[in-house]
Amino acid sequence: MASSAKSKSSSWLAPLIISCALLACTANGHFLYVGYYDRSCPNAEDIVHFVMASKVATQPAMAPAVLRLFFHDCFVNGCDASVLLDSTSHMESDKAAEPNDSLAGFEVIDEIKSRLERACPGVVSCSDVIIALAARDAVSLLGGPAWNVPLGRKDARAANISAADAYLPNPHANLTELLNKFAMHGLDTQDMVALSGAHTVGTARCQNYRARVYGYDGEGKIIDPAFAEARRRTCEVGGDNAVAPFDEQSPLTFDNAYYKDLVARRGLLTSDQALYGCGGPSDNLVRTYSKDGKRFARDFATAMVKMGNIPRRHPECRWR
Ligand code: HEM
Repeated sequence: MASSAKSKSSSWLAPLIISCALLACTANGHFLYVGYYDRSCPNAEDIVHFVMASKVATQPAMAPAVLRLFFHDCFVNGCDASVLLDSTSHMESDKAAEPNDSLAGFEVIDEIKSRLERACPGVVSCSDVIIALAARDAVSLLGGPAWNVPLGRKDARAANISAADAYLPNPHANLTELLNKFAMHGLDTQDMVALSGAHTVGTARCQNYRARVYGYDGEGKIIDPAFAEARRRTCEVGGDNAVAPFDEQSPLTFDNAYYKDLVARRGLLTSDQALYGCGGPSDNLVRTYSKDGKRFARDFATAMVKMGNIPRRHPECRWR
C-alpha cells in the first residue's frame, strides 16, 4: 500500500516538477509557460517558423536583425513589444531613441503577425511572436541552439524613449558599465557574457566601432593591429555607415567564433572587447566559450529565456 502510494505520488510529481521548471512569472502577474497557445492557436509556432525560414533563406541578414529586436525590446521596460510602437503626438516611442536608429526586421514581424491574425484572430501577442518565437528561430536557423520558450506575454500600449536611451547599453561601455546595465534586469555576469555571443552574427556601422579601431577609446593595447587597420580602411572607404561583420569568418553562422575573436583581441566594439582582457570571471567565461561551443549554446539558450522573462514595470516604479 505504502509503496503504491509512493509510486503514485512520484508519477504525478515528476510532470509537476517539469512543468514548474517551465513556468516563469512576470512582475505584472502574468504566468508564462511553454505551450501557452497549444489550444488557442496550435499552429502559432509553425507559422512563425515558416515565415522566419522563408525570409532567412532569401535574406539571411533578417535573422540577426530580429534577434537584436528581441534584446532591444526586453531591455526597455520588459519584453512587451513596445519596440514596435511608432511615435504619436502624445508619445515618443522606443524606436526614436538613438540606440534603436538602426533596428531592422520590422517587416518580418509584421508578416508573421498578419499570418497569425488570419489563423487565430486576436490571440497571439506581438511580444510572444517577436521575443519568444521569432528570435529563437532566428538563432536556430543560423545553426545555433533551439529551446522551449515560456509564452503568454501581454503587449504594451505605450513606449518610452527615455527608458530606451537610458537602459540600452552603449557600444563604448566598459565592463563595469555593462555589468551594471545587465544587473538592473536581474542578469548576472554569465548571462551577460553568454548573451553578448549574439554578436557572433550580424554587423555594426563604423560610427559604433570607429573609436575602437582608431584607438580613441584608450584601449589601444587590446586590439590586434592588423584587425584595427582593416577596420579603419572600411571606415575610410564607407564613412560612418560602413558596416563590418562582428565575426569576419562566419558572420551568418551562430557559433562560438565571437569568443575566439575576443581572445584574439579582434572584438569589433569597445563593449565587445571589454568582456576579455582585464582578468576576472568575464575573461574565464570568454575563454571557456571560445573552446566549448556546446557550453556556449546551452548557456545562451538559458540566458535568452531569462532575458525573455524580464518583468514589465509599473509606471510608478519606473526608472530613477
Ligand atoms: C552587451 C551590450 C551590447 C551592446 C553595447 C550592443 C550594441 C550593438 C551595436 C552598437 C550594434 C550595431 C548597430 C549598428 O551599428 O547598426 C549591435 C548589433 C547587434 N546586436 Fe548588440 N549589443 C549588445 C548586446 C546584444 C545582445 C544581448 C544581443 C542579443 C541577445 C545583441 C544582438 C545584436 C545583433 C544580432 C546585432 C546585429 C544586428 C544586425 O546585423 O542587423 N546585442 N549591437
